[in-house]
Amino acid sequence: MLILGIESSCDETAAAVLRDGNTLLSNVINSQVAVHSPYGGVVPELASRKHLENIYPVVEAALRQAGVTLDDLDGLAVTQGPGLVGSLLIGLSFAKAISAVKGIPYVGVDHIVGHLLSPFLEKAQPEFPYIALVASGGHSSIFLVRDHTDIQPLGRTRDDAAGEAFDKVGKILGLEYPGGPVISRLAEQGNPAAIPFPRAWLGPDSLDFSFSGLKTSVANYVHQRQQKNEPFNIPDVCASFQEAVVEVLCTKVLKAAQMHQISTIALAGGVAANSRLRAALQNLGAEHKIKIFMPSLELCTDNAAMIALAGFYHFSEKATTSFDTDAYSRSPFLHPGPVFGGGSPKPKSPELSVEP
Ligand code: KG4
Ligand code: ZN
Repeated sequence: MLILGIESSCDETAAAVLRDGNTLLSNVINSQVAVHSPYGGVVPELASRKHLENIYPVVEAALRQAGVTLDDLDGLAVTQGPGLVGSLLIGLSFAKAISAVKGIPYVGVDHIVGHLLSPFLEKAQPEFPYIALVASGGHSSIFLVRDHTDIQPLGRTRDDAAGEAFDKVGKILGLEYPGGPVISRLAEQGNPAAIPFPRAWLGPDSLDFSFSGLKTSVANYVHQRQQKNEPFNIPDVCASFQEAVVEVLCTKVLKAAQMHQISTIALAGGVAANSRLRAALQNLGAEHKIKIFMPSLELCTDNAAMIALAGFYHFSEKATTSFDTDAYSRSPFLHPGPVFGGGSPKPKSPELSVEP
């Protein structure tokens, strides 16, 4: 089965061609970082306009690199949400248009599901059930994954996502956008124990996250020193902040595995590219006899290969999406109930098992 995946939920326009759910024939990603960098964050309208400009060349390149044409495709998988609605609509409309003209079925994919299945794009694959930690710019969530489409949320962020905290701390420190990769690099020269930034545990059994207090604590530390004209060591701030995030993520994902007696953990999402987090989780795995899986770096951050893969599993269960389907900004996985706000109906997405 040959699937074209399309991703446009934030600031990457991406397309990928996947054969039989296991052979990635192409994976094209056009990043808009240079467009948004001067603003220190993603500007939604600029993102939509860039997607509109890039979607055709990116899809065309993905097909060309895979050596296939639209006529060879058996299915289209496109990110339906969560994300910036204006950006999502570009990919969704493009997929619907191809589907209508070529008669190829399409399926809307949840971006978070794409992330948490991304370890299946690698040779070494987790066995079910496993605990997934998705840490990205928009989400920090823990899931119990029983099957490719049977996914139960166990915890989520109550405020800022882990990647969002990295990006906001980057801004506070005057670093280039996005802050995550820059902080990760600077932290290598810093002392992770230099500044005792707070860890939000939210109760002994909570699997939820909160990173906004940590971000505020970094902001206070920096601003107090700036006001007094006192020097401070940026690598130490980066390393100490990063350590606080890594410790909370690792502790909670380990707790989830222990609570559910599961011996496999998979890490996904942009923050999964963080080398300190990868190393800390590997150490934890060795210590507690837990198998750890994580995608290669280019499959951690946003891509369409993971969307094509999730689409493959939906198609395998005979799920398709209808033409009147809308994009959604909040994931129905994490926020049961209306996902558009204002009482609009839930999107007609493939039936995925969600336990509140
Ligand atoms: O998954 P992703 O590409 O997009 C979303 O779905 O949000 O994640 C992007 C996030 C950004 O916040 C970025 O700063 C963060 O992932 N990130 C990192 C690293 N690389 C990307 N955070 C920490 N360390 C990294 N090496
Ligand atoms: Zn993402």
